[in-house]
Amino acid sequence: MTPRRSRGRRLVLVVSALLAVVLGGCAHASGNHNGQNTLDPKGPAAQKIYNLFLPVFGIAAFVGILIVGATVYIAIRYRYRPGKNENPKQIHGNTKLEIGWTILPALILAVIAVPTVSTIFDLAKDPGPTALNVVVEGKQWWWQFSYPDQKVVTADELVIPTGRPVKVHLTACDGTGTAKTCNVIHSFWVPELNGKKDVVPGHDNWTTIEADNPGTYLGQCAEYCGLSHANMRFRVIAKSPADYQQWVDEQKQGPVNPLYESDGTTPAGPTQELIVKTFQCTNCHIFDDSSKATYGPNLTHLASRTVFASGSYPLNKQNLTRWVRDAPSMIPMSSQGCRLPPGKGICVGMPSFINNTPPGEKTMTQQQAEDIADFLLEQK
Ligand code: CUA
Repeated sequence: MTPRRSRGRRLVLVVSALLAVVLGGCAHASGNHNGQNTLDPKGPAAQKIYNLFLPVFGIAAFVGILIVGATVYIAIRYRYRPGKNENPKQIHGNTKLEIGWTILPALILAVIAVPTVSTIFDLAKDPGPTALNVVVEGKQWWWQFSYPDQKVVTADELVIPTGRPVKVHLTACDGTGTAKTCNVIHSFWVPELNGKKDVVPGHDNWTTIEADNPGTYLGQCAEYCGLSHANMRFRVIAKSPADYQQWVDEQKQGPVNPLYESDGTTPAGPTQELIVKTFQCTNCHIFDDSSKATYGPNLTHLASRTVFASGSYPLNKQNLTRWVRDAPSMIPMSSQGCRLPPGKGICVGMPSFINNTPPGEKTMTQQQAEDIADFLLEQK
């Protein structure tokens, strides 16, 4: 084999190895499917985006291969050879060529613009009065989902009925007037159901999602929003309309374990005493009314969810106990000052009850954390 040939073979080998690596990234074995594949649409909006993506990608790939191929061919075919003129024929000022390579790309873009613009208008269409309304609020670092017509507030898991458009109202602010507080910019993204839409303080956006079949669709905050941006996940859980209605009915029920005695102020038991008085969890959470929202996630029916902590951990006793006692060890948060009086120190997220304990406050024992976790896990 001549050295030149073996170099050619080596090049082919390297190129095929690179191709295998690159294409391997697109592999979609159902075993390790990450649930966030934009090329695997599970609803009408995602399908429309996919239907646009395919032809545009096809045209782009065709043009790309044509140009790279022509570049390689010309570089080899017209390479320098001894005895030939070093300067190729000059084409500067060739009007025909100039017009040609201006008009051709413009034509391609004009052709692509037709389905692109019509898809944009299509996706921006209001889903109409049959849609289910959900208000999605981006917080640091979790998502609150409220159903204004059903009077249900939940977190981390957005439950929707299949086959019905859901109009998702996106906000980063809560309250009204002088009590209004706004969070930072987040972005709502469920890759298998629709594209991204930013959640902007002071500017309410909306988007539509719809799932064809029951299932769990993974969502993710897609705009950098601070320390735990990457942990700001959520799930869309699509249920059949009957199962969805059952879920709503269950959410609307009162808590399994009441927080207070009938007088409305005395904690109803020793664990409730820990929640209300010792550790004042009620400053940020609601435990006994799923129709209301507050600073932290509504926990009235926490045990009906499969995940917690912004969708980052499966809901079980071990995880929940650790979280109740020392949340910042599981997800980074700026919550060192959360147990100080309001306005003193930084408080973004959930505090640790074993670190940064202010003077006069109690630290939480493992047993107390387990008792609170048990209480919460009964709240179905
Ligand atoms: Cu919220 Cu990134």
